[in-house]
Amino acid sequence: MKEEKTKVLLIEDNLGDTLLIREMLTEAGRGSFILETARSFSEGLMKIAAEEPELVLLDLNLPDSSGLETLRKARHTIPDIPIVILTGIKDEEMALEAVKQGAQDYLVKGEIDDKLLARSIRYALARKELELELEKERDRAQKYLDIAEVIFLALDSEERITMINKKGCEILGCSESEILGRNWFELFCPREKREKRRENFRKTVSGALELSPYVELDIITCTGERKLIAWHNTLILDDRGQITGILSSGDDITEKKRVENSIKSSAMEWRKTFDSISDMILILDTQLNIIRVNKAVSEMLKLPYQEILGKRCYRMFHNTNQPPDFCPYKELVAERKEICWEQFEPKFERHFSITMTPVFDESGNLNSIIGIYRDITEEKRLQEQLEHAVKMEAVGRLAGGMAHDFNNNLTPIVGICDLLLEEMNSEHPLYSDIVDIRESAERCTNLVKQLMAFSRKQVVEPKTFNLNNVINNMEKMLARLIGEHIHLKKNLDTRLELVKADIGQIEQVIVNLVVNARDAMPYGGRISIETANVYIDEEFTRSHLDFKPGWYVVLCISDTGIGMDKNILDKIFEPFFTTKEKGKGTGLGLAIVYGIVKQAGGSILVESEPGRGTTFRIYLPVVDESEKKILTKESKPKTMALHGWETILLVEDELSVRKVVKRALEYMGYKVIDAEDGQQALTLIKQLKTPIDLLITDVIMPEMSGKDLALRIQALFPDLKVIFISGYLDDIIGNQGILEPGIQFIQKPIKIEALAQKIRETLDSISSPGSIHGKSHLLT
Ligand SMILES: Nc1ncnc2c1ncn2[C@@H]1O[C@H](COP(=O)(O)OP(=O)(O)OP(=O)(O)O)[C@@H](O)[C@H]1O
Ligand SMILES: [Mg+2]
Repeated sequence: MKEEKTKVLLIEDNLGDTLLIREMLTEAGRGSFILETARSFSEGLMKIAAEEPELVLLDLNLPDSSGLETLRKARHTIPDIPIVILTGIKDEEMALEAVKQGAQDYLVKGEIDDKLLARSIRYALARKELELELEKERDRAQKYLDIAEVIFLALDSEERITMINKKGCEILGCSESEILGRNWFELFCPREKREKRRENFRKTVSGALELSPYVELDIITCTGERKLIAWHNTLILDDRGQITGILSSGDDITEKKRVENSIKSSAMEWRKTFDSISDMILILDTQLNIIRVNKAVSEMLKLPYQEILGKRCYRMFHNTNQPPDFCPYKELVAERKEICWEQFEPKFERHFSITMTPVFDESGNLNSIIGIYRDITEEKRLQEQLEHAVKMEAVGRLAGGMAHDFNNNLTPIVGICDLLLEEMNSEHPLYSDIVDIRESAERCTNLVKQLMAFSRKQVVEPKTFNLNNVINNMEKMLARLIGEHIHLKKNLDTRLELVKADIGQIEQVIVNLVVNARDAMPYGGRISIETANVYIDEEFTRSHLDFKPGWYVVLCISDTGIGMDKNILDKIFEPFFTTKEKGKGTGLGLAIVYGIVKQAGGSILVESEPGRGTTFRIYLPVVDESEKKILTKESKPKTMALHGWETILLVEDELSVRKVVKRALEYMGYKVIDAEDGQQALTLIKQLKTPIDLLITDVIMPEMSGKDLALRIQALFPDLKVIFISGYLDDIIGNQGILEPGIQFIQKPIKIEALAQKIRETLDSISSPGSIHGKSHLLT
């Protein structure tokens, strides 16, 4: 194998030294070195260009160049060729410096031998090769640093920047030369955090604080921008293991963080919105597993999310192992469109309007199902309330109309019976028949009266009173009514507010409710009667249509009886609805309660469940302050003589009624002039010699109303007293159902005794109670 020869150029002006070196090389290399020589620096440069030597032996002191300057120039010209310095013994210092400045080795003239020379040349060649390799490595590393997409930053222990790569400069917004050697914290750390961070840095480089391998810290760039950097840090150690600085790579995560934050906040926003929806929303997979639910679901199921998610929806909602029959899941999958239906969920005891919507992926496969449950319980309840009110109104009108007609027809029956019985001897063969007719008509009259109470057509005398007193007064009577097998418990609010109603009617309400409670407990039980003040707020009125906000006195009558199911509850206020056997109940009790409470401006709530008893709550509006002061005293009915001698003008268009009343009045001793209408009455009155004492007139008549007639006669006889008769209460009281004091009124069917009493009351009164002057508005 042919050995490679090493071409060496010797630049030396001393000929003796040149010869010596040549000799030694020949000796040492045994032909492996080729030596070229030059005697000056400039000749050396030419030879380098022509011969391309692999190594240069260089004397520093040449005719055209001397000292370290020679080396500098040589290195500048041939940076890649190793140089070995030849030096005299006294210049050894300088040679050492030359090695520091890049020469590979030096040899002291006079101390060289052939072996040393050969070794030095080989060593220099190898060293240069290593150096070049190293340089290449460094270049490569620098390139890596420069193409890296992160900051590479080195700080010395004095906080100075000792290294920064290209990307670092780009992110920091300045050039390497502007910042190398300068204090990192002063240049880039936000002012408010500077001292704290410097302290940490100092502690870390002094070893007092452990280095955080990862931190996210913000910086202020040269252009004044704030950026968030994720730093990975490592300590820089010297040969002895001492910390000399910190090396960090930093990733600009400003944008990433911003996006992350905005994703986080929109996810939060979405969750908040999702949870604020009061409808229950479920997202299901195709197997009906619950993937996601909103807060409303967790609240309705009274379970935390983790106990709902992943479970089958039918398991959670219906406790079943498969979808129940009514679940439209299969239909939804088959028809691929939204399905809506209404349903009562027994688990929650609520009505829902449910919408199931299929969601498909891009290839049209069913991906998930969105279920929305809207609670419509309240809506349904309001609807039922409305329908109930409308029904009651219609039934009320019907009952009122019937009562009106019955009244007109019962008046002559009762009246004629009364007259016949007065005139007839009790031994008369027809006497007992007439008594039977009279009793039957009386029963009808009672029924009609009850219907009038239901249809709110009863004449009422509202008074301001304390409900507790009424209950206390009735206690003994109620105890007798319910019998000994039922315990009566009273719990009355001692600070109860006053209410305004007809006391007799309220007594009737209490009796009807207590009797019903009694009938519901054939084997005994407990009835409790309670009173309290309650405030009804706006919120409550939204779900209870017939309430107005304000203070109420509530009368609560509850029993421990058989209770009622919904079907019965829906009908209890209808007249003639009864579940009692024939003869035990007419089904009018609660209809009357309803009419009375409504007429008093109140409301009723009922709670009942089969087998769990019943509670009726009657709400009566509390009277306002001004009314409390006018506590009217009850007038006691007087016993009086029912006969008289006065002249009475009777005006009534119904012939049968007129005839009966006329006969009855004449029977009592009165002088009666009768007329079939207002016009005839006026004509008659003008022909009369003596004035009349009393006008009894029907209210509704063709041509001229009773009211107009009264006004016209009173114009002639201002002291004339008047009694109105009417079958229909509205004729005289308008829609209020309340009779103003001072108006004398007799309701059809007329009972002779009541009429006689009213006539005497009116005629014997000192003032003119029948006068309608100034009160005519009552009749309009
Ligand atoms: N406290 C109650 N417990 C159970 N059911 C009741 C109660 N109160 C009323 N009911 C039911 O309501 C129906 C109607 O009651 P309502 O008082 O109107 O008529 P009634 O009691 O049957 O007959 P009446 O009261 O005319 O004698 C009753 O037949 C009964 O079915
Ligand atoms: Mg009853």
